[in-house]
Amino acid sequence: MKTAIITGASSGLGRELARQAAAIFPEAECFWLIARRAQRLEELAEALPGKTVACLGLDLCDAMSFMAYQDKLRAEQPEVVLLVNAAGCGYLGRVGETDTASQTRMVDLNVRAVTAVTHMTVPYLVPGARVLNVSSIAAFCPCPRMTVYSATKAYVSAFSRGLGEELRSRDVRVTAVCPGPMQTEFLEVGGIAGNSRTFELLPYCDQVRVACGALRAARAGRAVYTPTLFYKFYRLLAKATPAGLMMKLTKT
Ligand SMILES: NC(=O)c1ccc[n+]([C@@H]2O[C@H](COP(=O)([O-])OP(=O)(O)OC[C@H]3O[C@@H](n4cnc5c(N)ncnc54)[C@H](OP(=O)(O)O)[C@@H]3O)[C@@H](O)[C@H]2O)c1
Repeated sequence: MKTAIITGASSGLGRELARQAAAIFPEAECFWLIARRAQRLEELAEALPGKTVACLGLDLCDAMSFMAYQDKLRAEQPEVVLLVNAAGCGYLGRVGETDTASQTRMVDLNVRAVTAVTHMTVPYLVPGARVLNVSSIAAFCPCPRMTVYSATKAYVSAFSRGLGEELRSRDVRVTAVCPGPMQTEFLEVGGIAGNSRTFELLPYCDQVRVACGALRAARAGRAVYTPTLFYKFYRLLAKATPAGLMMKLTKT
């Protein structure tokens, strides 16, 4: 069955991507929605009429979940037309001053889980399929006080580029979407809300519009999608400016 697989579908950008994917990838007959809060996924399933929906309540920081996902792939043999890696987290705080668990959770979810889910899914991607990885503007330059987060997102962007080149001959394209801040649970979960002047000053992106633009960019086979003119300019600035200078601006 032609299948779209979306991680982080229980809230924020991932949920929007899942809601809008059916319109931009109408060939997807089946949706696999992944996150820990399965009840939220069940509610989202109702917004996908006419589609077969499987809600996988998996904790992607737990390596046992990878085995469950692998088993599901082997059992169902899906023809994957779209893979979206949206699950992610970002904690505010300096390295060495915050708890070790939150620092390593960013690596587990944003790096290890993205790598594992993609690695296991690649054999099931059909010609013409798309992979959409949620990166961030934090990928453009290290962000002190979110050093680990920005490093994980630099990985997501670099991983997406390399993977896109590897899969080109199979007619599969890979897109990294790099949004600025969005009003989602991410800000509360990461202890950012009310604790970062930078996040208070930066213009916010609307996740509904980001999702639409990202899915269209993926459909078009673009390697990177940066929403809004402001952040497109920021991306160019970060490319042209030495990191040491940029980090005066990017301190969160
Ligand atoms: N919001 C921003 O300012 C911003 C800016 C740039 C990029 N991003 C990126 O956008 C992506 C989506 O974030 P968001 O803003 O939409 O935040 P969000 O509302 O907090 O969504 C995060 C999603 O990841 C899932 N998730 C978290 N931990 C998980 C785990 N251990 N296993 C499985 N799923 C897990 C959550 O589901 P459960 O809790 O149900 O597991 C949720 O569906 C992330 O990759 C984030 O880095 C966010």
